Amino acid sequence: MKESSLPRTITGIKPTGRPHLGNYLGMIRPALDLARSGEALFFVADYHALTITPPPAEVREGVLDLTATLIAFGLDTDQNIVYRQSDLPELCELTWVLSCTCAKGLLNRAHAYKAAAQDNLAHGREADQGIGLGLFSYPVLMAADILAHRAEAVPVGRDQRQHVEIARDLAESFNRVYGSVLVVPEPIVDERVMTVPGLDGRKMSKSYGNQLPLDAPPDQIRRWVSRIVTDSRSPSEPKEPDTILSLYRSVAPEAAAQDLERRYREGGVAYAEAKSMLADAIETLIAPARQRHAELMADPARLRDILARGAARARASAAGTLWAVRAATGLGWGQVPARTTASAKPS
Ligand code: TRP
Repeated sequence: MKESSLPRTITGIKPTGRPHLGNYLGMIRPALDLARSGEALFFVADYHALTITPPPAEVREGVLDLTATLIAFGLDTDQNIVYRQSDLPELCELTWVLSCTCAKGLLNRAHAYKAAAQDNLAHGREADQGIGLGLFSYPVLMAADILAHRAEAVPVGRDQRQHVEIARDLAESFNRVYGSVLVVPEPIVDERVMTVPGLDGRKMSKSYGNQLPLDAPPDQIRRWVSRIVTDSRSPSEPKEPDTILSLYRSVAPEAAAQDLERRYREGGVAYAEAKSMLADAIETLIAPARQRHAELMADPARLRDILARGAARARASAAGTLWAVRAATGLGWGQVPARTTASAKPS
């Protein structure tokens, strides 16, 4: 790991659904940028994926797919610690301990649970119908992910900010009862990372079915872009900023984006031309990773090996916190196990 004064960061991504362009631009790319300049942990959040009980084969496939995607887009698995969440069962232990100092009301206000409960009420059902305890306590597990590694900063999209704030609250309530054991993390929300729109202009999301898979071949990119909805302005007419322009800004070099923006404002670009430029820019951005991703997916044993090595480092990284939590709460015998403290810092 690099020596640096930058904070230690952690990023978790759920392995549900094929990674798409919105995942990349919205969170994977910013997290990889941060990882290049500091000390970073990355993990595939397969425990979190279980809240929607996907078929087991999909969970395992999703773990490999996401790991391959991260590496294909430049994640350095030596420089950073990359692991699968369920390879650290200690996280479940810490989740339990944290839940004992967590106010239940705090979780009642967590937005994923609140949205599900409100949806039930709006449809005349009991508030908690069909809502699992896993969805309800999701933020406690997420807090354990962060606190186990004494991460100082958590780069997240706006939708995850509240979860990091809950992790802060949980660190503070634990520390109030047991002394200053846990590091209180900060969310880092990059306001410049706009919401990435999908085909229909709404946020690109699997649940809207408006996404472009990150490993789409060139003809699929072209077909997808051709389906972006536009109005009927002629080439010479000035145009409003739209989905095409907004995606182009995220994928093309700055100067090219400014040029297209100017042509939108002044008139003189046909939607067909703008779409063709967008398809080319997406292709340029993802082509090298597509190749690398395919190679990695063809060698699952190698991916599993990378994750196993990451897990060993991650367990060492979490060991010191877990020991301190056990000592502070009265679990275990309060003695420093011979090897864990020495290896508590990642190499
Ligand atoms: N909840 C995050 C999401 O749905 C994933 C996640 C789990 C996470 N644990 C985390 C992100 C810890 C950052 C840190 O996107």
